[in-house]
Amino acid sequence: MLFQRRKPLDLILETAGKRALTRQLGAFDLTMLGIGAVIGTGIFVLTAVAANKAGPGMMYSFIIAGIVCALTALIYSEIAAMVPVSGSAYTYSYAVLGELIAWMVGWALILEYAVAAGAVSVGWSGYANGFLHVHNMGLPAALTAGPFDTITLPDGTTAKGSFNLIAFLLALVVTWLLAIGTSKSAKVTAVLVMIKIAALSAFVLLAFPAVESQNFVPMLPNGWGTPLAGVGVLGAAASIFFAYVGFDAVSTAAEETKNPNRNIPIGLIGSLAICTIFYLLVAYTAVGSMGAQPGGPLSQSKEPLAFVLRNIGWPRIGDLVAGAAIIALPSVVLMMMFGQTRILFTMSRDGLMPEALSRVHPKFHTPYIVTWITGIFVAFFAALFPVGELADISNAGTLFAFFMVAAGVMVLRITEPSRHRPFRTPLIWVVGPLAMAGCVLLFFSLGWNPTIKFFCFWAVFGLAIYFFFARRRSHLAPGNEHLLHGMIEKLPPDPLVHEGPSTGP
Ligand code: ALA
Repeated sequence: MLFQRRKPLDLILETAGKRALTRQLGAFDLTMLGIGAVIGTGIFVLTAVAANKAGPGMMYSFIIAGIVCALTALIYSEIAAMVPVSGSAYTYSYAVLGELIAWMVGWALILEYAVAAGAVSVGWSGYANGFLHVHNMGLPAALTAGPFDTITLPDGTTAKGSFNLIAFLLALVVTWLLAIGTSKSAKVTAVLVMIKIAALSAFVLLAFPAVESQNFVPMLPNGWGTPLAGVGVLGAAASIFFAYVGFDAVSTAAEETKNPNRNIPIGLIGSLAICTIFYLLVAYTAVGSMGAQPGGPLSQSKEPLAFVLRNIGWPRIGDLVAGAAIIALPSVVLMMMFGQTRILFTMSRDGLMPEALSRVHPKFHTPYIVTWITGIFVAFFAALFPVGELADISNAGTLFAFFMVAAGVMVLRITEPSRHRPFRTPLIWVVGPLAMAGCVLLFFSLGWNPTIKFFCFWAVFGLAIYFFFARRRSHLAPGNEHLLHGMIEKLPPDPLVHEGPSTGP
């Protein structure tokens, strides 16, 4: 009975049909959109966290996390082309696995998106604070990190921070931009992607000649890692997985894609492939040029890529790379926060979250209530917690959602074998189980404390809300059927990738 309550797939597709968004995005736009959402704090900042966990062996961590994401991207391609509506993993699960699982996925996606937005804000603040410091405008050290984070004082000693002011402010500014209806046009996305790619390319080209073989020894100072320990190569892979998250953003643009059966797989897999190549090159050159032993200088930096360049004799270019991160990372925060508001909005529209969350602003046509609630939470996460912990918690939610999507795609192959599938995941009975196994491996490679412990608490809290509140108010609950069809008319336009008037950022 618990798993019986499903939102009919045809109703979801009808919803998509009614919105009739112009299909204008091609494979290139989607690839740009994917890279725009993917390259961010993961490579620019968590490289240091990975070095601290795995040492030079973090290069293997990038490969392992990349493989799990590649498998998942193949699976996302099938479901995204087949159910081309936004709402992502939550919507898919609702149709296939039923309301309870969909609720759990939606609940986990709060971690994926909102906590990730906090993590990227903190990552950004590392570079922004470094920039202010270099130009003699630095904030007092206590205001550059949260109370659970460590800062290095000018005399070389370490201390706890108190409030990460600049990360807090960034999250609020992004919230305001979203609330007034700022969307990311495909053109702005493309420019930001070029800036990020130029910065990573410059890094690789300049660091490459400085690579020395002794920097790779010892290769695995912390070994491969043990379950729940959160260190070693697997522990670092579970953290650096964050660097790849965001490619699923492509699937949220499915409704606006020309020829989605061809372009969505190209966009998902293409953006992931390009990012993977850059990540491996950056990881190799960072380790080789600077060394990456746990506790060493690279592993402690809050702006590791700029730090490496400054230390190998390219201080000016180091500043430019920092500048690129400062310009481009806020758009990742925007994408993540947008994803979050969209999921909560969809859940509210289904009756699973309070109706007020789907209220749309009369002038800006944005779900402003949910946007501000999300933004305030994100701002406080960013102000208080370190980037590594936020990223790990976000990863736990994402891995759970990816696992469920893989399960859903396989279930659908059995329950609806003849439904039209514009793209079919090749070798689904190999790729699907491998993707699920990869998600499980990475999940249990996260540290028990605080990450998995927090995830368990979050899951129990979520289940309680479902059974005490959401279940009865669901539009699929007995007696609420009349609400189900009314929802179609209430949808606001999706502002994510519209080419229309756009104000940046
Ligand atoms: N992949 C995104 C980043 O690294 C979330 O910032």
